[in-house]
Amino acid sequence: MAFLIDGKKISGQIKDELKVKIAELKEEGLVPTLAVVRVGDDPASALYVKNKKKACAYVGIESRSYEIPDTTSEEELLQLIGKLNADPDVNGILVQLPLPAQINEKHIISAIDPMKDVDGFHPMNVGALVTGEPGFVSCTPAGIIQLLKRSNIEIDGKECVVAGRSNIVGKPMSILLLRENATVTTCHSHTRDLKEVCKRADILVAAVGKPHFFNHEYVKDGAVVIDVGIHKLAPKTFCGDVDTEDVMDKVSAITPVPGGVGPMTVVMLLVNCVDALLMQKGRK
Ligand code: GUN
Repeated sequence: MAFLIDGKKISGQIKDELKVKIAELKEEGLVPTLAVVRVGDDPASALYVKNKKKACAYVGIESRSYEIPDTTSEEELLQLIGKLNADPDVNGILVQLPLPAQINEKHIISAIDPMKDVDGFHPMNVGALVTGEPGFVSCTPAGIIQLLKRSNIEIDGKECVVAGRSNIVGKPMSILLLRENATVTTCHSHTRDLKEVCKRADILVAAVGKPHFFNHEYVKDGAVVIDVGIHKLAPKTFCGDVDTEDVMDKVSAITPVPGGVGPMTVVMLLVNCVDALLMQKGRK
C-alpha cells in the first residue's frame, strides 16, 4: 500500500516554525506584511486568496487586501503596483492570477519590485533560479521540494519526470529538481510516447491540468507520484491530474488531492514573505 504524503501535516509543521520566527521578529518591531491584489471576482481566485489571508493571520503576517473591479485597466493596476513597491511597510506583493483579458500579465509581473516578488514570477527571480543565485522561487514547486525532503524521499540521482511546462509549476519544478541533482525530463502535450516517458520516473510530477489524466499505464512500480492538479468535480469534491485509486497499488508514495501539494503552495508564500522582510532589512 502506498504511503500518503501528508501536505496538510507538513505545511502545518512549517507554519508552526514560522509562527515562532515571526513572534521573535515582532519583538524587534518587525511585522512581515503582504499586499494581496485580486482583480475581478473569479470564485476560484477568491477562494485561493481567502486561504492565503487566513494562513497569513495564523502565522502573524499582516495581509492588506486590494480587491478591485474586473474593469480595472492595466494602467490603473500598474499605478497600484507602483504605490505598493514604494511603500516601505509592504514586504511582499501578490497579484492573484489569472487577470482579466485587458491586462497583460507579463507587464504586471515585471512591474513588481523583484525584492517584493513573493510569487517568484518576475523574470529576475526566474533568472536567479536558473543560474542558482538567491531569489524568490515559485511557491508550488518550492513546496513540492519541501514535501519530498521532509518525507525523506531522496532526489539526488533519481529519474524525475515533470509532466507540464507552465511558468508557474512545470518549468521551475524541473529546474529545482535539477538543482537537487536529479536527472530531469520535462514532457508536455507534444511529447511522443508520453506513457513510456512517464514510466521512466522514480518521481513523477503531474502538472498538466487535466482531471484523472494519469492512470497505472503512466506509472512505474514503486514510483513516487506528486499530483499538482486540483479539479472540482462537485461541491466539496475534488480530484487531481492522477487517477489515485488506479495507481495506488503501484506507487510507493503519493500526494492526496486535496491535502497534498495545495497546502504547501500557501505555506511557501508565507516563507517567502518572511524572507522578503529579512532581505529588505539586509538580514538575509
Ligand atoms: N494563480 C494560480 N496559482 C497562483 C499562484 O501561485 N500565485 C498567483 N499570484 N496566482 C496564481
